[in-house]
Amino acid sequence: MESDFKEYPKTLASDDFWGQVKRTVNGQPVSEEQIQLIVATIHQALQFQVGDRLLDLACGNGALSRYFFDCCDELYGVDYSPVLIDVAKRYFEQPPARRFDVADVGDYIVAEGDPMRFTKVLCYGSFPYFPEQTARLVLSTLNTDFRNVQRVFIGNLPDIERNTEFYTDGLDHSAELKEHNSKIGIWRSQDEFMQLAADCGWQAQIQRMPEGFYAAHYRYDVLLVRAS
Ligand SMILES: C[S@@+](CC[C@H](N)C(=O)[O-])C[C@H]1O[C@@H](n2cnc3c(N)ncnc32)[C@H](O)[C@@H]1O
Repeated sequence: MESDFKEYPKTLASDDFWGQVKRTVNGQPVSEEQIQLIVATIHQALQFQVGDRLLDLACGNGALSRYFFDCCDELYGVDYSPVLIDVAKRYFEQPPARRFDVADVGDYIVAEGDPMRFTKVLCYGSFPYFPEQTARLVLSTLNTDFRNVQRVFIGNLPDIERNTEFYTDGLDHSAELKEHNSKIGIWRSQDEFMQLAADCGWQAQIQRMPEGFYAAHYRYDVLLVRAS
């Protein structure tokens, strides 16, 4: 399953942007209205200011990233799926200030040569797919090396306490809830996420999407600010 985002998008049209990142309901790409809810939530959380430089971790094909091009002086996205980054480069990249590269977030986060330039970080719909060790490395390195980052928005996290609202087939899915390479990735309770964030030097503010959002019944968002 880990290679799902590396192989599955190859089966879709190159401009099926939401299909490629599985932002679908009943197999259909979500509506522009749903995307606008996500974009507005990220705007509200990251509070863009003049001069911001945004790092988009596990950016997928850049289809979501592009909504923030006008909010910052630089947007840099990394994702480990070559096929998704190909799409990002083909449809959305505008060098030098809006760029995308192939990289595993765990490798990238310790290899970035100029981490101090970034001021905001976005990680949408992706964090549950990081192995636990990578998740901790990413959050702690953002804290220690990306010193000018004041806000990190981690969106669309599956709430383990609500997993039965997603899995309505009556089967026991407990074996996959802590597997990063499962369909949804690692499910965490809000308390678990707050503890993870605290371990890595961050204070987590939990947020929920409005009820009209297609995943509001089992997911939550997190805004990280530096723990004082
Ligand atoms: C649901 S998509 C979300 C993409 C994008 N952030 C968005 O919201 O449209 C999840 C993404 O996480 C990426 N991903 C998962 N694990 C990763 C890792 N360890 N390093 C880099 N990218 C990863 C996948 O390739 C995929 O593009």
